[in-house]
Amino acid sequence: MRILITNIGELTTNVAEGDDVCGTLHDVAVLVEGERVAWVGPAADAPDADEIVDAAGRAVIPGFVDSHSHLVFGGDRAAEFEARMQGQKYAAGGIRSTVAATRAATDDELRARLRGFLDEMLAQGTTTVEIKSGYGLDVATEERLVRLAAEVTPEVTFLGAHVVPAEYADRGDEYVDLVTGEMLDACAPHAKWIDVFCETGAFTVPQSRRVLEAGIARGLQPRVHASQLGPGEGVQLAVELGAASIDHGTYLTDDDVTALAASDTVLTLLPGVEFSTRQPYPDARRLIDAGVTVAIACDTNPGSSFTSSMPFCIAVAVRDMRMTVAEAIHAATAGGAAALRRDDIGRIAPGMRADLVLLKSPSRVHLAYRPGVPLVETVWKDGVRFA
Ligand code: NIG
Ligand code: FE
Repeated sequence: MRILITNIGELTTNVAEGDDVCGTLHDVAVLVEGERVAWVGPAADAPDADEIVDAAGRAVIPGFVDSHSHLVFGGDRAAEFEARMQGQKYAAGGIRSTVAATRAATDDELRARLRGFLDEMLAQGTTTVEIKSGYGLDVATEERLVRLAAEVTPEVTFLGAHVVPAEYADRGDEYVDLVTGEMLDACAPHAKWIDVFCETGAFTVPQSRRVLEAGIARGLQPRVHASQLGPGEGVQLAVELGAASIDHGTYLTDDDVTALAASDTVLTLLPGVEFSTRQPYPDARRLIDAGVTVAIACDTNPGSSFTSSMPFCIAVAVRDMRMTVAEAIHAATAGGAAALRRDDIGRIAPGMRADLVLLKSPSRVHLAYRPGVPLVETVWKDGVRFA
């Protein structure tokens, strides 16, 4: 099956051209063959196809790569959000209330919820999603969460070290024994990534190191939640262990920025978190100007960020983190791919997966310029068209 999307007014390829990180082309066409992109070129030279889609001068971008989410959980925390908007502070401990609701949910309930989130993400242009466990915190429930996540994505992260569960209160090291032992044994077969929440109120740097090294020894690749609630040594640990990404980075020191710029570790910004926890936005301008590779992800979860909308996160990153629109779109596509160490997604070029989004607007700028407006017209994932 050959599909030609033609009359594209503005195509974001992410195949960088000089200063243009988005590799922008005008008046072009894209040929999709099966699940891959086969050709990109001037609309006037477009080859024949079985199906022609007329983009009518509108913009096409790569499907969003959302490299950080927690989509398998029970319940919600609307009351906590409401209290926060009236002045309560966000703290890591809120995770425990979602753990209780998640343990109580059946596989079918969790699966239905998960699929609902994926549908809403796809409708907003997200074609790849990383999903973490972390609301089970016992062996059986963590195994269920990574298993359910693996039904829908290859980007599964074992986050047994999300917070110390109530039954291990004041026995964090013993809980780390469980995470790095029996829990890792049960979860590793379903996962690609190992993650830890390295933060005051969650896991110390030595505990985080144990978790990550145990995962690496089992063939998992590291990524780290760090510097969300205050500065810490999690970024340095992530860089030292060659993590694909450190996520949050709300409070970064100059040494953190220097270490990140000299590394292959991506800094994944989560604008929805600062938005819904009322924390200060990290300065993406400072990071990008220093040479750090950045991604944007939604961090969809019931506590710190319950949006699944990448366009919303892009708008906030532009408005409040001082990214240009082009940088934000690049971070939400190619940046996410780098954070997942994937070279088959995040760009539109021959050989890449055919994950494409046709917008209703003539330019990608409208994603930030018209916040909250549904601008996605059509999405293709692996060459298959949705809505
Ligand atoms: O990425 N930082 C840790 N974990 C989640 C929040 C989880 C929660 O509050 O339920 C995050 O923000
Ligand atoms: Fe998270």
